[in-house]
Amino acid sequence: MNKILHVVGARPNFMKVAPVHAAFARCGVRQILVHTGQHYDAFMSDIFFQQLGIPEPDYNLSVGSGSHAQQTAEIMSRLEPVILETKPEVVLVYGDVNSTIAAALVCSKLLVPIGHVEAGLRSFDRTMPEEVNRILTDRVADYLFTPSQDGDENLLREGVAPEKISFVGNVMIDTVIRLLPHAKIPAGLAENPYVLVTLHRPSNVDDPKELTKILGTLNEIAAGIEIIFPVHPRTRQMMKDLSLNSLSPNFRFVDPIGYVEFLGLQQKASLVITDSGGIQEETTFLGVHCLTVRENTERPVTVTIGTNKLVGRDMNLLQTEAQKILSGKGKKGNIPPLWDGKSGERIAAILTSDMR
Ligand code: UD1
Repeated sequence: MNKILHVVGARPNFMKVAPVHAAFARCGVRQILVHTGQHYDAFMSDIFFQQLGIPEPDYNLSVGSGSHAQQTAEIMSRLEPVILETKPEVVLVYGDVNSTIAAALVCSKLLVPIGHVEAGLRSFDRTMPEEVNRILTDRVADYLFTPSQDGDENLLREGVAPEKISFVGNVMIDTVIRLLPHAKIPAGLAENPYVLVTLHRPSNVDDPKELTKILGTLNEIAAGIEIIFPVHPRTRQMMKDLSLNSLSPNFRFVDPIGYVEFLGLQQKASLVITDSGGIQEETTFLGVHCLTVRENTERPVTVTIGTNKLVGRDMNLLQTEAQKILSGKGKKGNIPPLWDGKSGERIAAILTSDMR
């Protein structure tokens, strides 16, 4: 194979493309990197390129924020001429963000083969925009690279031909393994034991009542331990209108932080409370307790094998499970199969042998 094009756009894509890009570079394949610009703030994008060693994108489509339809349509119309001009043999798309489905739709209409990295994950909850993105991307993909065996089972059940599916393991863990030796905690933070919190799902933060309820429970937890909370721009916007004066001084709200700093904070946390997908996986790999404020997860191995537990919207459950973990009674976890740092290599090996 001579030419592959990667499309990325949002923060969780960057740690996935890094090991795959590096693996193809080692094979001497010509690569084109397209950044859609879905995420554009320096701390949501540039810092990850620097810390992960991803080369400068060849194209930045600068689409920015918008409604789902606007953002997806804008990516599609700006990406199409790039695909026509560069004529890649395969286009790789990552995860489940709007950039993923937009790129997959463009390539399927241009008859350019698509590889989906992180295929087959299902939350079975179509109210999540990411679930729609996952299902549709998998429908049109030609190469489906799954991070866990539940992904294979979901795809087979949906009628995907078995020869299109490859269980390669979790590319995000490739990046964790590579950068763990560089993990560092930002100066001045985390001098005492702490709970690390991230929240950004629309279902948790877009409704002020839900967000207030969650912050209320975190406030109870904060009575006994510091809470470090890097605030996503979406959440920051919603929190502007809430009164935070009554919150415990144990809260440390900070801006979103870089990859190696966040890895350091995860590694040393007494507990992580999140609604992110990737953090459920990273905590499982690190053996750190994780409580997920969602009713479901598209990453069930983090619960069945790893350290994750879903608490849904049940704030009493969040409170009791947090206390259980903080008093040393949390469950132990293991690392799922093929989360071994070699997933990017496997993808490159499959595509280079297939397209020779
Ligand atoms: C997107 C993904 C989500 C992923 C998350 C990680 C979709 C449908 N959602 O959600 O799956 O978990 O990224 O962060 O693709 N904003 C900034 N600066 C930025 C980017 C966004 O201020 O660099 C603000 C804007 O006000 C924007 C809002 O954040 O409207 C939401 O951004 P958007 O990309 O629409 O969705 P995320 O919530 O980030």
